Amino acid sequence: MLSYRHAFHAGNHADVLKHLVEVLALQYLVQKEDKPLCYIDTHAGPGTYDLRGAFASKNREFDSGIERLWRRNDLPPALAHYVDLVRGFNAAGELSQYPGSPAIAARILHAGHRLQLFELHPDDAAKLAHWGERDRRVNVQQGDGFAALKAILPPPEKRALVMIDPPYEMKTDYTTALGALQSASRKFATGVYALWYPLLDRKEVAMLVRKLEAMPVKSLLVELPVRAEGDGMHGSGLFVVNPPWVLQQQLESCMPYLQAMLASAGALPWRLRSSGG
Ligand SMILES: C[S@@+](CC[C@H](N)C(=O)[O-])C[C@H]1O[C@@H](n2cnc3c(N)ncnc32)[C@H](O)[C@@H]1O
Repeated sequence: MLSYRHAFHAGNHADVLKHLVEVLALQYLVQKEDKPLCYIDTHAGPGTYDLRGAFASKNREFDSGIERLWRRNDLPPALAHYVDLVRGFNAAGELSQYPGSPAIAARILHAGHRLQLFELHPDDAAKLAHWGERDRRVNVQQGDGFAALKAILPPPEKRALVMIDPPYEMKTDYTTALGALQSASRKFATGVYALWYPLLDRKEVAMLVRKLEAMPVKSLLVELPVRAEGDGMHGSGLFVVNPPWVLQQQLESCMPYLQAMLASAGALPWRLRSSGG
């Protein structure tokens, strides 16, 4: 089943949290200027999103996400790193483009770094390949990112951020994502991993979070509820394995602001929990 298209959701609250973590993790990893680095994205999407296009403008999910942060001049510094990067894609000063996870990585990585991107949907894979065709650091493969991950680890660079951002369109995505992260982190134990998941009132989510937190790794879990629990997604979370040491402090500094901006009354409080360290 391949009906999911992320362009319908581009720039929403879940993208804000996910891409904030991506920006902060990558900015930390590129500080070692002379060291090679690989960015691996198992579910890369099309690369960038046109917020004026038919898909993104259908439900305008970005209105309750990046749009609420876009013009603020009181952003906490860690959040400003992410918002400034998005501003850089919108030179005209109007929010019309939203960078996907590959475009965010391409902006932060240096010349000698590498992006290894997987996307299953043929249309989005074609868009992604077109987006990356002029960038020699980028390698795009149309295929199953879960299956590919194990085969490409450890990367020759021995340093990597692995983003795992499934659509959870199928119930099996929960167990597949968990299994992929567990086996990847065994095979390449020093890699930094970020797994995104939706907050839903479903047993699959509770089971995923319980098993993630039981993994014998150093980790950081962050959750941003944006509405009261009930039908549908009420927020999202990320589970980061081997988080950069500054990430917890950076997220602590911006989660209260982020929730105040993006959440409605009745949302559960944000959560940040580290373990194994
Ligand atoms: C949540 S979206 C990714 C968004 C992207 N990471 C971003 O931040 O811009 C999930 C993507 O995974 C793709 N997909 C679904 N199953 C996949 C699989 N097994 N392997 C690779 N891509 C898959 C979908 O077509 C969709 O584009």
